[in-house]
Amino acid sequence: MKVLVIGGGGREHTLIWKIAQSPKVDEIYCAPGNAGISQLAECIGIESANTPALISFAREKKIDLTLVGPEAPLAAGIVDEFEKKGLRIFGPSKAAAEIESSKVFAKKLMQKYGIPTGDGEVFEEPQPAINYIRDKGAPIVVKADGLAAGKGVIVCQTVQEAEEAVALIMVQRKFGEAGRRVIVEECLQGEEASIIAFTDGKTVLPMVSSQDHKRAYDQDKGPNTGGMGAYAPTPAVNSQTLEKVLKEVLIPAVKGMAEEGRIYKGVLYAGIMLTSEGPKALEFNCRFGDPENQVIMPLLETDLVEIMSAIIEERLAEMEIHWNERSAVCVVLASGGYPGKYEKGKEIRGLDEVSPMKDVIVFHAGTKYLAHAGLTPTPPFFTNGGRVLGVTALGDSLLAAIKRAYSAVDKINFEGMHYRKDIGARALPYSFNK
Ligand SMILES: Nc1ncnc2c1ncn2[C@@H]1O[C@H](COP(=O)(O)OP(=O)(O)O)[C@@H](O)[C@H]1O
Ligand SMILES: [Mg+2]
Repeated sequence: MKVLVIGGGGREHTLIWKIAQSPKVDEIYCAPGNAGISQLAECIGIESANTPALISFAREKKIDLTLVGPEAPLAAGIVDEFEKKGLRIFGPSKAAAEIESSKVFAKKLMQKYGIPTGDGEVFEEPQPAINYIRDKGAPIVVKADGLAAGKGVIVCQTVQEAEEAVALIMVQRKFGEAGRRVIVEECLQGEEASIIAFTDGKTVLPMVSSQDHKRAYDQDKGPNTGGMGAYAPTPAVNSQTLEKVLKEVLIPAVKGMAEEGRIYKGVLYAGIMLTSEGPKALEFNCRFGDPENQVIMPLLETDLVEIMSAIIEERLAEMEIHWNERSAVCVVLASGGYPGKYEKGKEIRGLDEVSPMKDVIVFHAGTKYLAHAGLTPTPPFFTNGGRVLGVTALGDSLLAAIKRAYSAVDKINFEGMHYRKDIGARALPYSFNK
């Protein structure tokens, strides 16, 4: 069969790496892809927002299955558009994707269906939000309603900071229309975990748990990023906790969505805070995580294409999904200056030394190669984004995976490269230095 993947980051490279292992798959295309992806798939120069061009391409090439990586095309309704044309596509509809694209929608869903979450209220005007903040006190969290590229949530340590956050989001409209409404929410304490599940709207099958590292620098210092690394599974989520999240968060969300007439099919991602009162939902995402996917897919033993087909055909209940019992760690290598300003076009060295390493996979995010007409891509590769590579390693323990990942990282370099040296360390029973 022929598969088209939409997106061009580390998450999509990981999906393609997994799909390429399926005996059912003959050809893979990716729009727009990146240099690493081009070693496994034919990259086509169509942006993920250009739905009409993607539909024409899928028809022309007789694509059997399209998979959408990022949230923006899902929120814009790409699944509805493909289905209208009779094309098979994996992911939630526009109405279902609102669980991510509107935090207000998600909060109301959680409140209506009794899903544990922080106490909070929705505001459409700044003044009532400020009054509420003054009444509740700090710490407190202010969230823009819409998609804001991971920057629309501000955790405030003082009332003044929270008032400034309301002004930034609602008055200055830093995130545009996404800031028309805000949620002001109690500040929860605890470890965070990502619990991501496959669902066909009836059956919910969780993936292995994982944890992302959002901050740019070691010990969770510095600005927020798209994610500097991840590990799976996370020891903070034992089987009872996973069961609890499934029963109290994911299943009620999928059932609630069905009751709202928004049948949810695809991947549902719950961002969870493990509080002393039990797991509470911070948010939902409507797709695979990035970089969480870089540690989850390598542990998935079942054919991903079979799972996606079962979801599209609403027969997930028949599937058994198998997971490898090992650990996986992904260290993101970023451009100098990221998440602020950075330069592109730096030559990446050392990938040849890493490729023969056992249990190490390098997933590309922002990379490109110099195209020579007619030649398949070979190194050198060049940097082309903020997050450049995700170096993933497997190990029999988390510590073994961490050590292996960093031994691979040591072989790679490009001008300005920076990365965190403590990925996974907080999950170890003792402090660990590289
Ligand atoms: N109620 C809360 N209490 C404490 N921290 C929170 C709360 N809500 C969000 N956060 C923090 O902010 C981060 C981003 O919030 P999230 O709701 O996941 O939105 P997004 O991923 O869209 O930015 C979370 O990963 C968490 O660290
Ligand atoms: Mg989040």
